[in-house]
Amino acid sequence: MLFTDVIRKKRDGGELSADEIQYLVDGLADGSLPAEQVSALAMAIFLNSMSFDEAGLLTIAMAQSGSVLEWQDAGLDGPVVDKHSTGGVGDKVSFLLAPIAAACGCYVPMISGRGLGHTGGTTDKAESIPGYQATPDFALFRKVVASVGCAIIGQTADLAPADRRLYAIRDVTATVESVPLITASILSKKIAAGLDGLVMDVKVGSGAFMQSMSRAEELSRSIIGTAARAGLKTHAVITDMNEVLGYTAGNALEIAESVRYLRNEGSEARLDEVVRALTAEMLLLTGIERDAAGAAKRVDEAIRSGAAAERFARMVAELGGPADFIDRYEHHLPTAPVIQPVYLEQDGYLHSMDTHAIGNAIIELGGGRRVLGEALDLAVGFSDFKQIGDAVDKQHPVAMVHASTVEKANQAVQRLRAAAAVSPVPPEARAVVCRTID
Ligand code: URA
Repeated sequence: MLFTDVIRKKRDGGELSADEIQYLVDGLADGSLPAEQVSALAMAIFLNSMSFDEAGLLTIAMAQSGSVLEWQDAGLDGPVVDKHSTGGVGDKVSFLLAPIAAACGCYVPMISGRGLGHTGGTTDKAESIPGYQATPDFALFRKVVASVGCAIIGQTADLAPADRRLYAIRDVTATVESVPLITASILSKKIAAGLDGLVMDVKVGSGAFMQSMSRAEELSRSIIGTAARAGLKTHAVITDMNEVLGYTAGNALEIAESVRYLRNEGSEARLDEVVRALTAEMLLLTGIERDAAGAAKRVDEAIRSGAAAERFARMVAELGGPADFIDRYEHHLPTAPVIQPVYLEQDGYLHSMDTHAIGNAIIELGGGRRVLGEALDLAVGFSDFKQIGDAVDKQHPVAMVHASTVEKANQAVQRLRAAAAVSPVPPEARAVVCRTID
């Protein structure tokens, strides 16, 4: 088969056959298809989309491009379930939800992604913990899931390798925001993980790949429908991404915020609401709890008792991180040499954020990739973010920037100022958990 014919077919709006999709997936997995041809096809798919059937075939072929995990023989006494986000800025939900769900009786084998486009990646964030093996072998992954109840890892060479390569190419070729490509990317990893159930966090807003509610609903339906075909029960929760989620955005900074949350040292209200809603949905999906009130209570107990913090600490230690990480995270995490406040030029109330531009500012600081395989500066980003509706003035900065040089810090200050709008009165409050689709 000539791959140029495949590209041409999709470029001209045609529908790819099962053989053509398999050829693509084989060439991605064994590296025989060059990045320039994959990029061209990804752009053709981005522009002309894929039918529901094509997206389903791509999903299954990518899931089967490596090993598919099975948990029947692992002696687990609870359901195997996971959550996946479509991507956002400051989205550290996985580090909170996985240990909370584990403390509630779930087993969470979470195979996460690296940064994608302007969004941060859970795998990159995990790697800011010294010693943490984000791509362990299967034996260790299974052992940690079975003993702790959760393990957050990245894609290993063996798990959906076709998606791993396509994901990295999409990251740097502006071909991310495509419903069939996002569907196939997420579900291939989740099917390969051998789950009983999945809860999707579909982000909507200025920092999401889907900027309107209708697009977020379209993506939710695509994911739920394709997952059902593969026998994977999935619910979707659409959540707001019109502002940074929580107080921080940037790899190590988000890990630090996650530890403070698990230690019950205060949490940002929107982040807390999203974490609780998604974890409760996992308990309902798996039948661990029958009603919303019971699920909410069990989640609350797992957080407040410290049971979730204890699971997180064990997961970090068993994956090679420091045994005292949860107690001494500040000592272990990398820090940036330059930290400075960002004041907005106008006094008033924070009205809106161009959250996509904030994600790009983190990439420019070195916290995300501009080209394939680029090494990251895990210490950089923003902390102490104000939320929409908060007062900002010459005494109250909108955030603190963490940078490797004064020059980079100054550029990030300009970018954040351009991304934030101020109004004389507070804007109307916006719901963060918008709707659930099952
Ligand atoms: N997360 C993924 O794993 N893939 C995407 O394409 C988007 C979010």
